[in-house]
Amino acid sequence: MASGTSRDVLGRGLRVLGQAIREQPRIFAVAVAGSVLFGLMVIASAYVVGGVVGKVVVPAIARGSVTGGALALAATALFGISVLRVVGIFGRRLGAGYMQYRLQAAYRRRVTRRYLDLPLAWHHRNATGTLLSNANSDVEAAWYPIAPLPFAVGTLVMLVGAVVSLFLTDWALALVGLAVFPALFALNVVYSRRMAPRQARAQRLRAEVSGIAHESFDGALVVKTMGREAQETARFAARAGELRDALIAVGRLRGVFDPMLETLPSLGTLAVLVVGAVRLRQGAISVTELVSVAFLFTVLAFPVRAIGWVLAELPRSVAGWDRVRRVLDATGEMPYGDRTLDPATPTPATLAFHDVHFGYEPAEAHLPGTEVLGEVTFTVPAGKTVALVGPTGAGKSTIASLAVRLVDPRTGTVTLDGVDVRELTAASLASTVALVAQVPFVFDDTVRANITLDRPGIGDDEVWAALRLAEADGFVAALPDGLDTMVGERGTSLSGGQRQRLTLARALAGRPRLLVLDDATSAVDPRVEAAILAGLRAPADGAAPASILVVAYRRATIALADEVIYVEQGRVLARGTHAELLATVPGYADLVTAYEQAEQEREQKHTYDEVTPLTSGLEVEVDR
Ligand SMILES: Nc1ncnc2c1ncn2[C@@H]1O[C@H](COP(=O)(O)OP(=O)(O)OP(=O)(O)O)[C@@H](O)[C@H]1O
Ligand SMILES: [Mg+2]
Repeated sequence: MASGTSRDVLGRGLRVLGQAIREQPRIFAVAVAGSVLFGLMVIASAYVVGGVVGKVVVPAIARGSVTGGALALAATALFGISVLRVVGIFGRRLGAGYMQYRLQAAYRRRVTRRYLDLPLAWHHRNATGTLLSNANSDVEAAWYPIAPLPFAVGTLVMLVGAVVSLFLTDWALALVGLAVFPALFALNVVYSRRMAPRQARAQRLRAEVSGIAHESFDGALVVKTMGREAQETARFAARAGELRDALIAVGRLRGVFDPMLETLPSLGTLAVLVVGAVRLRQGAISVTELVSVAFLFTVLAFPVRAIGWVLAELPRSVAGWDRVRRVLDATGEMPYGDRTLDPATPTPATLAFHDVHFGYEPAEAHLPGTEVLGEVTFTVPAGKTVALVGPTGAGKSTIASLAVRLVDPRTGTVTLDGVDVRELTAASLASTVALVAQVPFVFDDTVRANITLDRPGIGDDEVWAALRLAEADGFVAALPDGLDTMVGERGTSLSGGQRQRLTLARALAGRPRLLVLDDATSAVDPRVEAAILAGLRAPADGAAPASILVVAYRRATIALADEVIYVEQGRVLARGTHAELLATVPGYADLVTAYEQAEQEREQKHTYDEVTPLTSGLEVEVDR
């Protein structure tokens, strides 16, 4: 990762901070104003304390009695300074907090928004764990230095003020300041440079650890049933161990530098006392001035650390920022056109593939991408049903993705009603086509929300109509809260077949003019599957039927199609009716027969998930 080079990390870190200031200038100004007020009050307090010692305490000791008036004046001054300091701290903390969390929220939104805009091809190349950490810990890391930044800026102003006041007091003492302050600064810079590669490594490992955790939770079922707990734990432990070591390396460096940063101002105080004693004897300065300057060095020690905090967080910030920018700057976004297709009365759409070639982008840019589809040409005429049949890995899902423009062809075109899908607006595309994917995705929400997805114009009547078409009304009606039933994360409280029918109903609720079913009813009983397809071809409620492209295996389903397209290894090998293909294409007959046998065995074992307690009423429905 580019952030590994420590040489330019300071410059790049400062640019990141500049970006933050440009985005939140007003809040930053408030925070810095608070911090400067605080810094000036720190200097003022040193001089008041010096004044108290020189003008009240020393004479009082000499005289043996305290002057009440002078003491009251000093107390009032110190109180006033304290109040202003509190105001300064309040302004700085509030401003810095606002700025940091606002930036975090804004960038989280931008990153997740970007995920939705980026094409599937980009997502294929990026692990889920990385995406999670980009939106979470990377955004946080990028804006970590914002918290101490106003303090650091105020401290810089304070240091300048301190040097000026030192010169006004005595040039010899000023020289001590001129030696100590730059040394503090330099030490901080060295610190942050040493820190850079360690922080970058830790940040990368954080992403990897969260990636592994995400994967093993996701695959918990596989891990458990295959008895892979130990291996999975070991895989996680190894990476977690690396992260631990990386963080310890960070801590060790901190352990070396923190004491140095702490000690330097104390050494400054010591130098002031030595130099000051000489100057006092020479009569160049008064007791008041010496005490003020010595006290100044003591109270400066703490705020000066703020500069160190910013510099120490910069490498991590740069590492996080690089990872965030990688998402925000990612290209390959699929631009939409400005044409619309939406006819006054909804009629089925015509889908056509013309000599489509497609290949997934390789995981790493320098590898050659292999072609997954070649010379794919076919049409789904308006209102017709076309079945896509082929062995596993033939490219059926890829064709389905192209049909709804999840990906674009390398060459060739995909058209809807004669218009290249690339020329359509996103909204028009979404209202025209619907894909029911091979792997159903259900949100952790109610049944209703899963179907409407907050799309306008889908009321409960429409939801029930869609559920009826998807043969899902029976089980939904039997759910404890009907449409208001929560389905659990990824629909865990539903059976596989129920999830599939829910996602089908979701697609149907938008009344698409072209429906693409990618093996979308595989977990549903075959008779129900045939009933669904028959219902879609001629909806009972008088709605216009959609054109259907269906990836299917079952004879009963395929037989309902007007045309069958047989694909093998990314090529269309044959087209025709089911009967024609059975008679003429040996591979096709083999595939359908083999599938049917497997299916029969499965049915004998009663493995369809229809018969679950949730759906006990459904068997009646199935047998109807
Ligand atoms: N995201 C991806 N990145 C790279 N290659 C992919 C990706 N998805 C699929 N492929 C490859 O593309 C080819 C076609 O895959 P596709 O998913 O379209 O097959 P399919 O016909 O739907 O198979 P199945 O019947 O098993 O669902 C396969 O060789 C597969 O390995
Ligand atoms: Mg597939």
